[in-house]
Amino acid sequence: MLSEVLYEDKDVKWIVFARDPDKAASVIDTNEYLLISGEQGMLLDPGGVEIFPEVVSAISDYIPLENITTLFGSHQDPDIISSLSLWLGTCPRARVYVPWVWSSFIPHFGCDTSQLVPVPDEGMRVEVSPTHAVELVPAHYLHSSGNLHVYDPKAKILFSGDVGAALLPPDKQDLYVEDFDAHARYMDGFHRRWMPSEAARDAWIERVSHLDIELMVPQHGAIFRRKEAKRFLDWFGGLRLASALQGSKRSDRAA
Ligand SMILES: [Fe+2]
Ligand SMILES: [Fe+2]
Repeated sequence: MLSEVLYEDKDVKWIVFARDPDKAASVIDTNEYLLISGEQGMLLDPGGVEIFPEVVSAISDYIPLENITTLFGSHQDPDIISSLSLWLGTCPRARVYVPWVWSSFIPHFGCDTSQLVPVPDEGMRVEVSPTHAVELVPAHYLHSSGNLHVYDPKAKILFSGDVGAALLPPDKQDLYVEDFDAHARYMDGFHRRWMPSEAARDAWIERVSHLDIELMVPQHGAIFRRKEAKRFLDWFGGLRLASALQGSKRSDRAA
């Protein structure tokens, strides 16, 4: 599994884990993100149960697992958080932040609810360590009815979950978006099909356009640097969404 440091200063480090070569072809590729501040770690969208051993192994190179004290699930999908019970067995001190609306569904993955923190619709601030905090940002209906993103004002990184996801072919596995126009074809079908509300999309664009974003990091596909993140907002803002209502014949795999 590939890992790369995305940001580092004397207190804070962001790492992406992606492009697992041993992943079964039948499951979608996912990006996991680890934020380390001091001794403590926050794991964002830890992933599906099937990649748990690979993610554990990769993360162990950066932090002792018992030091992961915050887990975050942007929404309820299995590629986001079906590994949760395994993570809680590995990181017994962790608190798990999930949208409140999903907090009675996520325990169906078999986890201990005493560690769940239901996040209100308006989002909240989360202290990763005594010296660093991030904001949980509302992204409801993008694509889930309760959906959150994470903004780190120090690193200027926006974790955007399934927004900005791309389903990349085997020969287009760059970690960063290098050519936005070429990349857009790998995002198009997914966003049209899986993003159900143009009103929700417009509200999200208005919200995040006020953030200072150096990197926008999605849960699938490639990472957007500042210029490409701005282009993404323009591109996303012009899309016709909820394509199934328009009789679309696109092949739009889940993400
Ligand atoms: Fe996803
Ligand atoms: Fe999803």
